[in-house]
Amino acid sequence: MIDVHSHIIPGIDDGSRSMEMSLTMARQSVDAGVTHVVCTPHIHWGVFDNTRADIEDGFNKLNDAVAKENLPLTLSWAGEVRIKEIIPQWLAENALPFVGKWKGKPVLLLEMPHSHVPAGLDQLLRWLIASGIQPLIPHPERNRDVLNTPDKIQWLRNLGCLLQVTAGAITGRFGDKVQALSAKMIDADQVDIVASDMHDDVRRPNDMGEAYTVVKQRISKERADKLFTQTPGKIVAAQSE
Ligand SMILES: [Fe+2]
Repeated sequence: MIDVHSHIIPGIDDGSRSMEMSLTMARQSVDAGVTHVVCTPHIHWGVFDNTRADIEDGFNKLNDAVAKENLPLTLSWAGEVRIKEIIPQWLAENALPFVGKWKGKPVLLLEMPHSHVPAGLDQLLRWLIASGIQPLIPHPERNRDVLNTPDKIQWLRNLGCLLQVTAGAITGRFGDKVQALSAKMIDADQVDIVASDMHDDVRRPNDMGEAYTVVKQRISKERADKLFTQTPGKIVAAQSE
C-alpha cells in the first residue's frame, strides 16, 4: 500500500515527537502492509511555518535513520497545506511541495479547517485547477460542515477535487458519525484515496492495514486495491516525470 499523508517527520508539527517514535511509526507502517510513505508535515501559516527547506532537512534525517534500520519502506516528502489567502503567492514563488502527479498535474494536499468549509473555497479551487494544479482534499469526512451537510462531498468532487479519506475514519477511530460518513462515501464511490494521516505510534498510528480489510469486506478487493495502492501509487510514481 502507498500512504500519501503522514506526520512522521519528528519535531516539525503536531506529529511525531522524536526520531524513536518515527522509527516505530515506520515499523508499524511496514507491518500494516505499507511500502511507501509520503511525509506531509503541516504547512499552516502562523501555526506550523514549515518551508520546503525545513521539511527536506527533517526528511533527510528521517530517511537516513530508516535506511539504517533496513526497513522495506520508501519515503518521499511533500506537505499538507492549510487553506490560506497566501496560497497563490506561494504557488508563484514555487514554495509549495507536491505529493506527486495525477494526469500530468502536480497534486497539492490541501487541508480545510476542521470546523468549517471556508467561504470562497470554490474560487480558490477553480483558480488552482485553472493554474494546472490538482487539489487533493484530506479527510473531508472529519470536517464539521461536511458532516452536517454531506452534499458538500459531491460539491467538492464536482469542482474537480480528489478526496482522501483517513484510514482511522473507516475503522471508527474518530467516532460513529465520521465512520458512517466515510462508509457512505465509499459505498457511493466518492473516495479516491485512503491514507493514514498518522501522527504518532499510539493515539494516531497507521490504520491502513485494518482499514484495507474493512473496505475489502464491505465492497471488494478490487476497490480496496484501487484506493489503498493503485491510485496513490500512480500519483507517487509520477512525481519524477
Ligand atoms: Fe494530516
